[in-house]
Amino acid sequence: MKHWNHFWQTTRLLSNFTDGESKTGIAGEAQAFWESVLAELPKKATIVDIGSGNGGLSVFIRDYATAHKKDWTIHAVDLAEIAPETIEEVDAELAKKVATIEFHAQTNMNALPFADGSVDLVASQFGFEYGDTSSTLPEIKRVLKDKGRFVAMSHHKSSTIYKASKDGAELYDYTVNHTPVFLQTDMFLRIAEDVLKKDSVEKLQNSLLSRGPLQTVEWLLRHVGERYSDAHNRVWMNDIHGRINSVVQQAKDAEGARQAQEDLAVHYLGMQVHGQRLGDLANASWDAKAVKKVEKEAKKAKLDVAIEPFEREGELHAWTVKMEKAAG
Ligand SMILES: C[S@@+](CC[C@H](N)C(=O)[O-])C[C@H]1O[C@@H](n2cnc3c(N)ncnc32)[C@H](O)[C@@H]1O
Repeated sequence: MKHWNHFWQTTRLLSNFTDGESKTGIAGEAQAFWESVLAELPKKATIVDIGSGNGGLSVFIRDYATAHKKDWTIHAVDLAEIAPETIEEVDAELAKKVATIEFHAQTNMNALPFADGSVDLVASQFGFEYGDTSSTLPEIKRVLKDKGRFVAMSHHKSSTIYKASKDGAELYDYTVNHTPVFLQTDMFLRIAEDVLKKDSVEKLQNSLLSRGPLQTVEWLLRHVGERYSDAHNRVWMNDIHGRINSVVQQAKDAEGARQAQEDLAVHYLGMQVHGQRLGDLANASWDAKAVKKVEKEAKKAKLDVAIEPFEREGELHAWTVKMEKAAG
């Protein structure tokens, strides 16, 4: 969980899938999907978002409720030490919406803090598959009202996001734990601090002592780039290049070089946890066999179930999960 704690506490993002156009991480066909689910809910309802992170899906639901004049109570549950209050630091308008959500941090989705038969909709955007599905489904059934629904979008093992995440996890692990990129960058920064105490940046750039580790770093990054040459890995390589370049650029004077050594340690941790999160995503993704298992668990928990592949922009994106608790 440490890697998720780190992500939610440091990024000030609502969702792990936030991109430029969508702060909630829900856009295009996914938006239409969730709107069709929400359209079926009554005017007054209780909704629980499981594996919520800082509340991407919850805020999307709040926006829908506001636009359609619904009186909905929205809860968000996550096992990590989420930090939705940090949104205030970057976006006051968004923070107002976040404040309408009741967050339950460090709460396992298989032990929901809600009464039996009290929830209209349990929802999840790429969260349910990260938990233990066999103990979570009976718990979802317990909290749902009769005819209540569980709807989720879950990672698909044939999607691009799965492939990119699996490679990304390997690439970060390889770079950080199996090459001396960080050791060599650290060595350059120590030499730079020493040289810049007495000499100029020009002297540093011309010194063989400092050029050695920098050339090694360049060679290593080229080697990693060749090893992971698929187009979807470019984003990870750009991230690594950006981190290394930013600390190298800081070595303009002795104090800058000293500070850069501390910043490099932060990047080291940042890359470790990024790789772990991508590995989690890959491990959580379902193939057809995993879907069969979840369907079996749902039937065992006495939930009607339908799991379908879901395309976004003409590409396989996820599985949609729809379950319902029978009346009576
Ligand atoms: C990929 S993130 C998705 C978060 C959010 N739904 C979003 O759209 O960004 C998966 C989340 O599941 C949470 N998680 C993993 N296992 C869990 C569990 N057993 N109970 C509750 N949350 C869990 C993680 O802490 C993480 O925040």
